[in-house]
Amino acid sequence: SALAILMIVFAYLLGSISSAVIMCKIFGLDDPRLRGSGNPGATNVYRLGGPIPAGMTLLFDVLKGMIPVWSGYLLGLPPIILGLVAIAACLGHIYPLFFKFQGGKAVATALGAMFPVATEMALLLIVTWGLVFWMSRVSSLAALVTVALSPLYAWLIKPQYTIPAIMLAALIIWRHRTNIKRLWLGTEVSFRTSTKNRK
Ligand code: G3P
Repeated sequence: SALAILMIVFAYLLGSISSAVIMCKIFGLDDPRLRGSGNPGATNVYRLGGPIPAGMTLLFDVLKGMIPVWSGYLLGLPPIILGLVAIAACLGHIYPLFFKFQGGKAVATALGAMFPVATEMALLLIVTWGLVFWMSRVSSLAALVTVALSPLYAWLIKPQYTIPAIMLAALIIWRHRTNIKRLWLGTEVSFRTSTKNRK
């Protein structure tokens, strides 16, 4: 329907606004695309500026997923279309129209997209991320484990969202390929070392 297409386009455009780049500008930090991991996301903003700019980045990246999916849900769009809206928001974040198509990894945006329609699942994903991060202090590993489990969680909790969850997981895992390589080689940056070396 026209509404479905409109929401998908809206989600992509909203996703295309890089919270990390904007927050770093506002807080007078270096461009996150040129420092740390080079990724414009909350993790890398944390490396550059600590919890406040990182928290703001996280909040706005979550909202980029949450706002269009919630709107679509309230307007009565079916699960498969809501899944496409979520994917559009994440594609906007990963390949932003307004930032030379150089975006982030869509972990926060995907989480935000799940919140309105699968809140219990989103909470379980946050707990999973927190546990893995707590044990490993590696943000990318926490994201990868969480994202890999998300189709299983969907299947158990909200089976109508299993296919969108698989698509999102594939996209996000693909986007973490350089992190996967570093994890494999044992060179991925952990917050244990990176915070110690920051100053
Ligand atoms: O959410 C992004 C995170 O999973 C990895 O970020 O900056 O360590 O590549 P980064």
